[in-house]
Amino acid sequence: MNSVLPTAQQPTLDQIAEWQAFIEAGQASVVDPAGLRVLEAAGLCLDLTGQMASPQLGEAGQALLAARDFDLYRDKLLSGQSINNTEDRAAWHTMLRAPAPVEAVAAERQRMNEFIRKADSERRWRNIIHIGIGGSDWGVRLTVGAFGYAGTWRRVRFAASIDGHAIEGALSGLNPHDTLIVLASKSFTTAETLQNGQRAIEWQRNAGVEDPYANLMVVTARPDLAKAWGAPESQIFRLWDWVGGRFSLWSSVGLTTALAVGSDVVAGMHAGAAAMDAHFASASFEKNAPIQMALAGIVNRNALGYASLNIAPYDFRLANLVPYLQQLEMESLGKSVDLDGDPVSVATGPAVWGMPGTDAQHTFFQWLHQSSDGAPVDFIVCQEAGHHWPEHHRSLLANCLAQREALLQGKSYEDALQECLAAGVPQEKAEWLAKHRVHPGGRPSNLIVLPKLTPYTLGALLALYEHKVFVQGVVWGINPFDQWGVEYGKVLAQGITEELSGAKAKDGGHDASTAYWVKRFSG
Ligand code: F6P
Repeated sequence: MNSVLPTAQQPTLDQIAEWQAFIEAGQASVVDPAGLRVLEAAGLCLDLTGQMASPQLGEAGQALLAARDFDLYRDKLLSGQSINNTEDRAAWHTMLRAPAPVEAVAAERQRMNEFIRKADSERRWRNIIHIGIGGSDWGVRLTVGAFGYAGTWRRVRFAASIDGHAIEGALSGLNPHDTLIVLASKSFTTAETLQNGQRAIEWQRNAGVEDPYANLMVVTARPDLAKAWGAPESQIFRLWDWVGGRFSLWSSVGLTTALAVGSDVVAGMHAGAAAMDAHFASASFEKNAPIQMALAGIVNRNALGYASLNIAPYDFRLANLVPYLQQLEMESLGKSVDLDGDPVSVATGPAVWGMPGTDAQHTFFQWLHQSSDGAPVDFIVCQEAGHHWPEHHRSLLANCLAQREALLQGKSYEDALQECLAAGVPQEKAEWLAKHRVHPGGRPSNLIVLPKLTPYTLGALLALYEHKVFVQGVVWGINPFDQWGVEYGKVLAQGITEELSGAKAKDGGHDASTAYWVKRFSG
């Protein structure tokens, strides 16, 4: 077995001295609002001032990584060795954005760029329907939203869900004769994508398009299946087994992005991500942004007991960063057995949630500030805006800093009382009201600052999170590159679909509720 961490006979993570020392140091540390801690990486700033810190914690973190053979696993990751042990393959997404990639990657990049040059010079396809789900969807939505938020010369629609309303809505109003169908599926077996793809082909055919397959581009690691489905070979772009679905935006899955907002956007993102890869590979422990961010996250999860992580992009253009990171973090770290299949003895990846600011402030920030639980927050903001209303951007920046400061510094009862009294509230009422206005403070956060939103900085940002997740996977001893939890439901859904259609007899093995609804939904 390609085991990376302890065998069954070896101690569990919580029994390892380096782990215990790290957790104890995390619990004994404090968030020091006066202890400014800012790291620079690939053009981004990561401000960790809002995280637990102490010299002991730093030393314990370094010892913990050594105890988990971190350097070895980082080398394996970056050199394309097999690191995804349950699927027996590499997770070599860094190669997709390498400045001098291996031949197959370079050739596919060139093919894609030529395709785009031709389509653009012919002004072909004013509409794109991008069909894919999960990793074959979120990265494209994110980048098209980030750089095409004010409109793109090609109209782009997305259809991901199996819900027929999704494809119906996505196709509605498009000219079938001038629409390119981009079907992205690494496995080319994903039911949602194949069914939505069929609907799009039918839609073109019903509108009189003679050969709908001429308006189809497929991106997949299974060209054989795509060909059998009807896609002409010349219209298939390849990706490889060693590209995990949630890392595939770096591959030809970026086709729609390039058609919508330009090949230079894709190239810029590659450059930014590659710069973060280089930083991750070579920056010292203290200055390594993904490593420090990962360790801060482990303190929050395991020393302080926070079960979730809030993502707060103070940037309207990054709305899809939240679901993108949800997939990256939760598919990667939502595991509870280690590489040997033994239960992990500590809590692993947090639930990830969020919404862009300032909308988030008016939705759930109350809970972040004053609930009994709270959650660490990643604030993400650009120093410079892309629009020309400085007063908007000043307010946005101020809100971002203010929310973070409130979480960090809090507000004491005494300050709240003075505030009430100063506002003319009578003493007795002020003493009561002040209790409701206390903010505990000391709630952890990161602040990530992009000088401005460019393909380069977005690429660096995504790679920062990818590597942070990897470091956490190594420390927790789990495989951050598989997703078996998603597979079981797919199998059950297939069986229930057949029961609902009558193709299969009702399954006696269902629980009472599922059996009841299968019967009712079968009409
Ligand atoms: O949701 C599970 C998953 O396997 C993701 O990991 C993947 O991004 C998505 O489905 C889509 O898979 P595919 O690209 O193979 O259609």
